[in-house]
Amino acid sequence: MRHCHLAIASLIGATAIVSVAGTTPSQAQERRMEAVRTGLSCAKFLIAGEEDVVRPVAAKRYMRFEGKLDDEARERCRGGEMTAAQAGTPWVDWSNYFATGGPRSRSGLPVRDGIALTSALIDLEYQRMELIKFNLFDNKTFEQYGSTPDGPVLKTWKEMRLPAGHPNFEQVGGNGAQRCNGDLIRHRTLTGICNDIDNPAMGSSGQLFARNVEFESTYPDLRQNELAKNRHGDRLGLLKPDPQVISRRLFTRDQKDARNCNQGHGASDSVDADCPYKKAPFFNVLAAFWIQFMTHDWFSHMEDARNNQSQIMSSLGCAGPGTAAQLGCRPEDKMEAALIADSTAPGTFKAKDEGEGDRDRITRSYKTTSNNVTAWWDASQLYGHDERSQRRAKRDPADPAKFEMKPVRTGETLGYLPVFGTMCPPGTETGQCDPIRPEWAGQEATGFPDNWSIGMSFYHNLFVREHNTFVDEFRKKARQAPNEDSGLRNPANPRQVITNSQVSSEELFQIARLVVSAEIAKIHTIEWTTQLLYNEPLYRAMNSNWSGLLDEDKHPLMMEVAERVLKKVRASDDPKKANVIASAISSGPGIIGLGSKVELLDEKGSWKLDVVNGGTQHFGSPFNFPEEFPTVYRLHPLVPDLIEFRQIDNDPNVIRKKIAVVDTFRGKATGRMHEGGLGNWALSMGRQRLGMLLLQNHPQFLQNLDLPPRLDTKIDVPALDVIRDRERGLPRFNELRRQIGLRQLTKFEDFIDQRPNVTPQERADQEQLVKILREIYGQHTCDEKKIITSAQRNPDGTEINDCLGKKHGEMVDNIEDVDIVVGWLAETTRPHGFAISETQFHLFILNASRRLFSDRFFTSSFRPEFYSTFGINWVNNNGPNVEKMFEPREVNGHQYEVAPLKRVLLRNTPELEPELRHVVNTFDPWARDRGTYYSLDWKARADAKSDPAFPQ
Ligand code: HEM
Repeated sequence: MRHCHLAIASLIGATAIVSVAGTTPSQAQERRMEAVRTGLSCAKFLIAGEEDVVRPVAAKRYMRFEGKLDDEARERCRGGEMTAAQAGTPWVDWSNYFATGGPRSRSGLPVRDGIALTSALIDLEYQRMELIKFNLFDNKTFEQYGSTPDGPVLKTWKEMRLPAGHPNFEQVGGNGAQRCNGDLIRHRTLTGICNDIDNPAMGSSGQLFARNVEFESTYPDLRQNELAKNRHGDRLGLLKPDPQVISRRLFTRDQKDARNCNQGHGASDSVDADCPYKKAPFFNVLAAFWIQFMTHDWFSHMEDARNNQSQIMSSLGCAGPGTAAQLGCRPEDKMEAALIADSTAPGTFKAKDEGEGDRDRITRSYKTTSNNVTAWWDASQLYGHDERSQRRAKRDPADPAKFEMKPVRTGETLGYLPVFGTMCPPGTETGQCDPIRPEWAGQEATGFPDNWSIGMSFYHNLFVREHNTFVDEFRKKARQAPNEDSGLRNPANPRQVITNSQVSSEELFQIARLVVSAEIAKIHTIEWTTQLLYNEPLYRAMNSNWSGLLDEDKHPLMMEVAERVLKKVRASDDPKKANVIASAISSGPGIIGLGSKVELLDEKGSWKLDVVNGGTQHFGSPFNFPEEFPTVYRLHPLVPDLIEFRQIDNDPNVIRKKIAVVDTFRGKATGRMHEGGLGNWALSMGRQRLGMLLLQNHPQFLQNLDLPPRLDTKIDVPALDVIRDRERGLPRFNELRRQIGLRQLTKFEDFIDQRPNVTPQERADQEQLVKILREIYGQHTCDEKKIITSAQRNPDGTEINDCLGKKHGEMVDNIEDVDIVVGWLAETTRPHGFAISETQFHLFILNASRRLFSDRFFTSSFRPEFYSTFGINWVNNNGPNVEKMFEPREVNGHQYEVAPLKRVLLRNTPELEPELRHVVNTFDPWARDRGTYYSLDWKARADAKSDPAFPQ
């Protein structure tokens, strides 16, 4: 509240008016006048003090914030007419507040913008606290969470013990109390055990996916739950509505203007091919493949690239006479069914239900699935997640601290990944063979080789180079100062200093892994996400999320948000207070390094294991990703059909070839990578815009993908996205929104963007899509007696029924049946600079923070004893330099550190230096002029005006 009282005079008296860069004088004047006109609406809140502005955390699930203010004066205070005008829509309010958008969103009154930004951040923090309070459903331990008052603050669970027969069972304590120690706690382990030393199995390969929705809302097609039955009637099924029809009508790119596109295959690299797609002006193809690279680290439903091999789905839709001919889909497609871990009936128990009295609950979802890689952010896609995958990642025979890399051209020191050798015959995986699937033959060797293309080749090569560069730099330092304390300690003898020269090759390999994993997490948090969500509130939120503790005074606004929220939360009598307090605290000071400043040695000179682990926070629910997480990461529209290939030493403004992504699929990536070179691929993907996450924007090649030898039919991957969600029992889109505290939709027209800046053409396109949605999902005659949810209520407090606000017996859209992927792709009303939709974003708010909160290597074990001093500095300073490096100019009003991925590129593809000089965020198209304050304009920077990607 520091600035708020001071602000009143300037709000209502309109002092301190400044010009707003990037707007015309009349637009700026208009916004200023609006700010002054609506300023009076703020005064009452400011005079009343912060309690009036900061709301309590909801006591009951259906009383949640929903991101809506529902108070006209407050709406006008924070965002003027714009926020007030959008109040009736289902979409969150903060995105219409002052200064949360592009240049025109600023009010011209800096104090007012500051208040609006603080309010936006407080809104986001409330969403996170309520998500933590209401949306954690672990499939193994939920009964403990839900049945006792201290469930939400539990820290250990018997279900997270290693089972008898596990190779490390005895080492962690066997049948007695289990606690990891010794070598198991020094580094990230292969299978992810012992990240939490008191819960050895948490996050390790093969644990169950969790859920972010009430278990009762899962598998709505099974009709096990009364509300689900009321919600969907008998309209749902695995192939109902038809997934291939959904794909062809709602996902196919509009390519009527295509030139030599050939279903995404292009024309033998000719630049005369074009496969049009809707492009995001502020996000590039590097960003698309980055996120695929990340998902391969975080989760996989498959076991070594296979689903259920004993159960083939012989029909995947495209049913009905004439459908194939009319839409181009294929009734003959088939696929392995999804792997299911447990499909027996769940148990029941009496749960304490958020102050509403006891309630019957099921102990887990109707079926469960496993996450077959480690859930930790541990770069397991490079290093492996079990012994088989580890064998695929080849160490350098000459230096075991490094990975093997081979030069392709003479003089190349950093090299490229070796190619897989002979495949091991089934059942014999020893000796000189590689444990791979037949389809991976010819691919570059790495831990997770599935769905490989030039994008995966790029990132695996880049980060293996980075691993090796770290090792080289460490060894250089060790040569310069061999007797210096490395900072590293062995828990077997923690008082013993380990000098730089005493660090063994194996220790160095493991330190490099810790550093590479942390760099990746940092790139994702402060570089990728701030460009994915390109606006000021998210810039602040993500930076403080990562580095608050280390960089406290750089984020005073976030500190203020934390202080204000905490004051309110502490004052409330919330049974799950400890959790929401922890969440609020971290919103200010950040997560990385939480708890890492505490003395580690006890009086006897041993490590205090409670300190090793003490900074983590699981909120009463063991960490793993929820099933909803892969769903909102089904981002296939990001991928273009063709990549515009450029060369750094041959005028980067010229497109030399157009290479089909499908021509780089699997083993074909190797030759393409060697021929093009890592730097040129970075340049090409760095300059090209990625596909927007919207309906009718999926690449054709993925709708017609050959997956030999696994299948003898083609496969429609976007249709499979829909089928997999149904197999895994995701609720449908509208109930998902209610479950995660977002307002429901009541009709297909709610997908149409009501904001004033929508062009008539965009409006017409959206109306056309609404028509198709209605044709596919249909309507029904509603029954007001059927209550359809307990997760949300109508604004007047009544229960939501099948009529969704209409009269009994009227026709209602089957909006309840819309598949999640269809729903979030149909969301056109998005906050400024959001490449994803608000529904996806809300799942990220919860799970992206948990992924940091729960990992001791990002919290209490982020310290030299584990990373070495050299390693900690490398992560904090984005490289071997001892001081931080900054861009020469401010970026969007902030002093800007040279971004971590840019630094990785400068180190490992140094030929890109002249191009990277212009780049501040590696995921923003490299030749774009970023303009002012979060501009999304597609304009070339001064020396790239001849680039044909820009309007000439
Ligand atoms: C060349 C590019 C790509 C190819 C060939 C590809 C291929 C595939 C295929 C065949 C599947 C289906 C697996 C199954 O359920 O049987 C799949 C799943 C998936 N893809 Fe992609 N994909 C590509 C790019 C991407 C990108 C850019 C993302 C962005 C995050 C992505 C995210 C996912 C996710 C989240 C799944 C579900 C994984 C799971 O269920 O565990 N993919 N992809």
